[in-house]
Amino acid sequence: MLEVRNVTRVFGNRIAVDRISFTVDRPQFVGIIGKSGAGKSTFLRMMNRLTAASAGEILFEGRNILSLTGAAARAWQSQCAMIFQQFNLVPRMDVASNVMHGKLNSRSTFATMFNLWSREDILQALDILDRLGIAEQAPKRAEALSGGQQQRVAIARALMQDPRIILADEPIASLDPMNAQLVMDTLKKINTEDGRMVIANLHTLDTARRYCDRVIGLRDGRMVFDGPASDLTTEAAREIYGADESFNESATSTEIPVTPMPAVRRPRPAAIAASLL
Ligand SMILES: Nc1ncnc2c1ncn2[C@@H]1O[C@H](COP(=O)(O)OP(=O)(O)OP(=O)(O)O)[C@@H](O)[C@H]1O
Ligand SMILES: [Mg+2]
Repeated sequence: MLEVRNVTRVFGNRIAVDRISFTVDRPQFVGIIGKSGAGKSTFLRMMNRLTAASAGEILFEGRNILSLTGAAARAWQSQCAMIFQQFNLVPRMDVASNVMHGKLNSRSTFATMFNLWSREDILQALDILDRLGIAEQAPKRAEALSGGQQQRVAIARALMQDPRIILADEPIASLDPMNAQLVMDTLKKINTEDGRMVIANLHTLDTARRYCDRVIGLRDGRMVFDGPASDLTTEAAREIYGADESFNESATSTEIPVTPMPAVRRPRPAAIAASLL
């Protein structure tokens, strides 16, 4: 379904991404790892058309998404939602409205200017928030939430677009281990339950090993590893992160706890909807 062919990006005389090629034939959870500057963000940004590629093709179901223009390019952007390390929410806006902004592409400018959300939009946003375990936060300002909750709001906003692919650029790099686990579990659930492909840049090996079906390792823009997480041995990691550095497993570990999260009773979305409608 996704075929990346020789994708390259050059900045001045620096090759940030150098002829990357791989194929994903089902909605896998794909992790991209590599040192700072390896080209991880540049690659995701090319997938989402935020950065132009210098060469190569990215075929999604046979169509080269790098050659789309205008409305077709915007439609592609809503098919592959992006999640960032810093959440990128509107801090003073309530959580429900932040989530509904995921629909911006498909709404009129007038409705957007006056925050005129339809009843369907509100109910859909609350359903998604409920699924992610944070429906009760819907009326609060985004800035009042913890980092882990804000990242789940960002995921909810992405889901509002009903994307085929979720691109996540270091989604847990700003979170403590407990919140990191919640966010990664949420991405995994969306991947397995909805069949949406997830491609996540990850800064720790243990997270890649634990959550990914498939791991791609970049080094200086080149792909030096492509395989199942179980093949990500210490030796393979050394190849990705560089043998010249004093490579240390613990330096790339966040020690995400392995205990299941406790079940929490939450108010039903209908009750919250009643207060918003
Ligand atoms: N807009 C830009 N202009 C010039 N050079 C850039 C630009 N964006 C990225 N680069 C360069 O491209 C290379 C890859 O950067 P990129 O941000 O993709 O790396 P990364 O793997 O995401 O790193 P990090 O782990 O620090 O986020 C780096 O050398 C970077 O300096
Ligand atoms: Mg980056």
